[in-house]
Parts: sequence; C-alpha cells; structure tokens
Amino acid sequence: MLQEPFIAPFKGRSLLTWLDYSPAEIRALLDLSLRVKAEKQRGESHFRLAGKTIALIFEKRSTRTRCAFETAFGEEGGHPVFLSTQDIQLGVKESVEDTARVLGRMFNAIQFRGFSQKHVETLAQYSGVPVYNGLTDAFHPTQALADVMTLKENFGRLEGLHLAYCGDGRNNVARSLMVICAKLGVNFTVVSPRELFPDQEIRSLTQGPAKESGAKITVTDDPAAVKGAHGVYTDVWASMGEEAVKAARTKLLSPYQVNDALMTCIGNPDCIFLHCLPAIKGEEVTFDVIEGKRSRVWDQAENRKHSIKAIMLATMDLFENSASF
Ligand code: CP
Ligand code: NVA
Repeated sequence: MLQEPFIAPFKGRSLLTWLDYSPAEIRALLDLSLRVKAEKQRGESHFRLAGKTIALIFEKRSTRTRCAFETAFGEEGGHPVFLSTQDIQLGVKESVEDTARVLGRMFNAIQFRGFSQKHVETLAQYSGVPVYNGLTDAFHPTQALADVMTLKENFGRLEGLHLAYCGDGRNNVARSLMVICAKLGVNFTVVSPRELFPDQEIRSLTQGPAKESGAKITVTDDPAAVKGAHGVYTDVWASMGEEAVKAARTKLLSPYQVNDALMTCIGNPDCIFLHCLPAIKGEEVTFDVIEGKRSRVWDQAENRKHSIKAIMLATMDLFENSASF
C-alpha cells in the first residue's frame, strides 16, 4: 500500500527520464510494479490492453527490454509491433517529427531504443501518445525502476539504503540510477576513474532532488567508498555504440571490477549484487560474483517486465484503481 494519498496524474504521459517525475509519482509506479508482479504470481490474467497497439522502435539490440515490452503488452491482450530501423524511415528518408505524427495516428503508445535522447523527446512531442524511453545514450529509465524495485524487494525499504555503482559513471544506466536514487532518498555512490565521472549537468540536476529526499550522492575514484553498501551495481565497460573505445575502457576500468575482493571490502553481509545485463563475465564482474549467492540479477531482469507493464498501464490510464493508487 502507498503511504500517501495520491491522485494519479499519469494519463497520456511519456517516460523519457525520471527527472520529469516527482518522488511521489515514482513511488506510485513502484507500488504498481509490485502489484502487477503479485497478480502474475497469483496466476491472474488481465486484458487491460485489449484492442491497444504499441510501436516498439529499436535502433540498438535488446533482449530484456524488447521481451519485457512485447510480453507485458501481449499478455494483457494488446498488439505490440516491432520496428527495427532497417524497416522504417526514422530520420533517414523521413524526419523523426513526421514518423512521430504517423505512428501517433496508428498506435496507442511508442517505445524507442536508440542513440539520441533528442529523438525520443521529438517522438513524444509530435506523436500525441505516451512514448517510453527504452534506452538512449543519455538515459535508461525503465531499467532504473526495475533496479529500485529489486532493492525494495530485498530490503523492504529504499530510503537510507546505499547503492554503489562501480564502472562507467557517464553512461545511461549510471545517470538514470543517479536520478532515481536522488529522488527516492537512496544514497548513491559512483565509483569510477576521473575520466568517466558523470558530467556536471547531471550532477547539478540531481542536487535539488537529493537535497529534498535526503539522499547523499557521491562521486569518487576510490573503490573503498563502497564500504557498507546495501547494493553494488555494475554495467558493461563499453556501451552499445562505443565499441571503438573498448580497449581504452578496459584499461581504465579494470581496477573497478566487481570481484570477491570488492565484495569483501564492502563488509556488509546483506549486500546484494545488481547488473542491468547483458554482462561480460570476467570483465566488469567476475563469474563468482554474478553467479554467487548475493546476485539478484535474474530477479532484476524479471522485474523489467512487471515495472514496464506498470508504466504502460498507468500512462494509458488502464489500471482499474488508477484513480486512487
Ligand atoms: N538491461 C537491458 O536493457 O537489457 P537489453 O539490452 O537486453 O534490453
Ligand atoms: N550501458 C549499456 C546498457 C545496456 C542495457 C549500453 O548502453 O549498452
């Protein structure tokens, strides 16, 4: 149950970054994610998306995000349509604005995974339907909701927890975690080499929300800062589109690998390991850690589906209690 009375203001909204959502709104979506997961575990079927369609645009590869959107939408009775950029005109022979207006006439919602945050913003501006950011170079917001959901399932709370992220501090996952943790009162530490510190803009943007929630946001190159963390998180050293810098990244990020020595340095027996996946075992995380008893990566992957379903139901105003959750 939510702790605060709440009128859902979600209808018709896009999710481009959590910067656009208040802490109470994120908590409401988190609550709904846990509720739709519980429905599924009870074996209930619902058809709240019957007669609805969603366009799933992918410029980059995906296993979890694509499957989460397709299965969540399909099992609720809706019809997802997968569109790779090999198939459609998106900024190649037709402007993103025009594609947005056409898709908005045919679909009830759009998911976009690609390079440019500007593209997902343009789709939202011109389509007239909710647009979900399924990952851009700048943000991966649906991932971050599943991440805090997994933390909440494990610890029963979020406020006051400490999540340490070791790796590329500038990437989409680190940036999204910084925003959602700042909003929800989770202390967040980015541990990365100075060259890969989050940029000043995202640090400034999260300052206000962190002050409001009481979250402490730390950026450091010292791996010892993971001490006491409730969760340690990592991601690939080179994100999609950065293949050319892989060798340089490996050199920079090797000292930040999540391994047994780092887990020992944390010194918290309850600490869990998180990774958005896909993982390259032996690079950012050792086999022993990701396959070990503290790893929650498979729950985290499953939670992508429940949290994405919650986001879609809320923004399409289709959850039966959406007026009051
Ligand atoms: N975590 C995540 O977004 O996985 P995919 O790239 O497989 O969608
Ligand atoms: N930072 C990674 C996340 C993959 C889910 C990438 O963008 O490739």
